[in-house]
Amino acid sequence: MPEEWTPVAGRVLRGCGLSFAAPFAVLLAAALAVAAATQVPLSKDMPQRAHAEVDGLALTPPMGWYPWNVFGEEPQNETLIREIAAALVSSGMKDAGYAYIGPDEGMCFERGRDGRLAPNLARYPSGLRGLGDHLHRLGLKYALYTDAGSRTCSTAMPGTKGHEYEDMRSFAGWRADYIKIDWCNSQGQDIVQTYAELGKAQRAAGRPVVHSLCSWGDGYPWLWAGAVGHMWRTTADICAPGRADWARALRIAFANEKLAEFAGPGRWNDPDMMVVGMPGLSEAQNRSLFSLWCLMAAPLMAGNDLRSMDRATAGILTNLEAIAVDQDPLGVQGRVVWNDGNVSLWAGKPLFDGSLAVLVLYQGKHRAERTIAWEELGLKAADELYVRDLWAQTTSGPHAGGIKVSVGPDDAAFLRLSKKNDFPVPPIIVADTYLVSLRSTAARPEALAGTVTVTNKGTSDLAPWRVDARSVPSWLRVEVAASGRTQTFRNTVSTAGLKKGAYHAQVRADNVEPVTGRPLSALYYDVDFEVVRNVRRAP
Ligand code: GLA
Repeated sequence: MPEEWTPVAGRVLRGCGLSFAAPFAVLLAAALAVAAATQVPLSKDMPQRAHAEVDGLALTPPMGWYPWNVFGEEPQNETLIREIAAALVSSGMKDAGYAYIGPDEGMCFERGRDGRLAPNLARYPSGLRGLGDHLHRLGLKYALYTDAGSRTCSTAMPGTKGHEYEDMRSFAGWRADYIKIDWCNSQGQDIVQTYAELGKAQRAAGRPVVHSLCSWGDGYPWLWAGAVGHMWRTTADICAPGRADWARALRIAFANEKLAEFAGPGRWNDPDMMVVGMPGLSEAQNRSLFSLWCLMAAPLMAGNDLRSMDRATAGILTNLEAIAVDQDPLGVQGRVVWNDGNVSLWAGKPLFDGSLAVLVLYQGKHRAERTIAWEELGLKAADELYVRDLWAQTTSGPHAGGIKVSVGPDDAAFLRLSKKNDFPVPPIIVADTYLVSLRSTAARPEALAGTVTVTNKGTSDLAPWRVDARSVPSWLRVEVAASGRTQTFRNTVSTAGLKKGAYHAQVRADNVEPVTGRPLSALYYDVDFEVVRNVRRAP
């Protein structure tokens, strides 16, 4: 994979006058024109809709944890993932919206003689499905890793080349909710065709998954990957496993920033998993990087060891006011307004309530004071605005004309500006479980019930979730009861007339953000139901 990389085609498309976060169809048409001019291998039969429009996944940037940045390949195994999952819950990260978790490249599976993937039971004794069930029971989502080429990067595991459909079926069987697909050992493969085929294979496997493309910017994925997946890496790796590299992380942020217009709900530029809290960074640097990822609407995949993080790191990763900027339903990626080499002003991120997010990053050696004028942000000098400091969690104002900010070395001021003295948090959805397991042993008909309770950690009450009737089979009934920020899905199965066997449903529910009416990411959960013996019909 490339060491460093510059997003050339991004500049080309920016020059063609697109506004940021343009609708996908507009972006795709413009991308096709650019592709012709720059010889990006885009074909006219690319899907015309964003992938996420169908599955409703990742309409805000995915949040979770992935092992690569701190651990590399070793010691990834089931114990590690379970321990980190427990820490994700106990640290408050789950309640702040982090959900996707699982192994990155390690030794998870091999290909058997029959061509099918087989889990490495020495490292994952519960099997890959067993680990998935465990994570789902905790109210977390399951992330897995593979590669689009013949082998994964270290060659430790088989890639999907030539096995796209059967591998995506295996991942669906393990109940993955997110698949990161690397681009190593892919010599001679057409990148667009390969990832498009993998997207189709995921659809064919029948389990909606977040498709995370990992070609490090190869093939200009921001031009086309929204049609086949939900997020794409824009740059080389953010660090070598084990230690963060501040200068490299900043270079990545500045490269990712240039691609702002390609991001939008369900299609995200991914500047890599976070390094916040890893060895090699100060608290100020952690705060700055987290602010940058949030301002850029980047996926928030933590990459530190959650079992041993200090309070300051946990406080940064769980700051709901910063996360509110990342998870804003408009899905606009912020960008640099100016950069004098020492200080940079980042803005261009309108939020759902009419407020604006603004970030001042300081790379100099001594504390700096700067006045940010409203006009630099496209506002009127006479505007009277309240300013929320998202780290101090204090509000000042209203201010007219601008505001003076004071920032220490490597630190960032992360602000939200609003005409109202009110800074609402958009919906952040957290579930007590994503797996309902029911078992019936009786020969006479009975009804069994299990619940999934979801809580909105944002500041608004939501309308009741609408269950997609197509996702509910005849043996299941789902009712939703709302009470303030919490809603409960009551799942009832009636065994009358059912044959002995294992039944499974994946229930989908949809909702909208109440202020903008924009769709929220679809909610999916699994219902497993075992009938131990044939059941008589109802009398
Ligand atoms: C690539 C990816 C990393 C990680 C490694 C695993 O370098 O960019 O994020 O998945 O492969 O080998």
